[in-house]
Amino acid sequence: GRSKPLIVANWKMNMTLQEAREFFSGLTDAPYEHCEAVICPPAPLLYPLKELMQQAGISLGAQNLHEKPKGAHTGEVHGELLFELGCSHVIIGHSERRAAGETDEQVAAKVHQAIGNSMIPIVCVGETQLQRELGLTKEVIRTQVESALAGVTEERSPFIIAYEPVWAIGTGKTAQPSDAQDIHREIRQMLAEKKSIGFANRVPILYGGSVSASNIQELCAREDIDGALVGGASLQAHSFEAILKALR
Ligand code: G3H
Repeated sequence: GRSKPLIVANWKMNMTLQEAREFFSGLTDAPYEHCEAVICPPAPLLYPLKELMQQAGISLGAQNLHEKPKGAHTGEVHGELLFELGCSHVIIGHSERRAAGETDEQVAAKVHQAIGNSMIPIVCVGETQLQRELGLTKEVIRTQVESALAGVTEERSPFIIAYEPVWAIGTGKTAQPSDAQDIHREIRQMLAEKKSIGFANRVPILYGGSVSASNIQELCAREDIDGALVGGASLQAHSFEAILKALR
């Protein structure tokens, strides 16, 4: 991976405002100079946490955005608002959202909205256990990567991929670093074929799925693993910082 790994915390539907404040008072090592850290809290916590995040030198990210600009979509959040609230990143197409019906077309439209509102899309791709058993891993990932790229209109647009094998999410089962590296390399090749080698080399490819302080170093030591998308281990200040410390 790169010299300054990118660690993105996905808090999913966890934390209260009070718990989030406790999280920030529990951080002892911020700011982190040897890596870039992003936290994606639930949307209602974005605004109240902005200052604490800034003080800790951590960037703010959203977990989702709507695929259209502002309008009559009750309960949804548009990209312009997320950017205004301070988000630099936004997760798109997480497997938990895909499982709830989010399509490749929606993912592409969301990527377009993110970039159009000056945010960096973090597009999640990955195969399920069944797809893996059927030998469909590469095909599934290719479809997901290529359709997400439909939302990228400019060669210079920022873009991040998170490879998350669905069977590794929240299960304690991590992919073997060498297997993850193979997929990451494949993904980089897909990016090069669809866009350009320059684009492919610029795009950070993160690994996600039961990442913790005990496996992060081995993962990020691989050539094409540029960081991680962390769920469970990002919910406590000490386990989150342990990941960052392991990368020193
Ligand atoms: O977005 C994060 C991933 O889904 C990984 O979650 O670290 O709890 O396995 P996890």
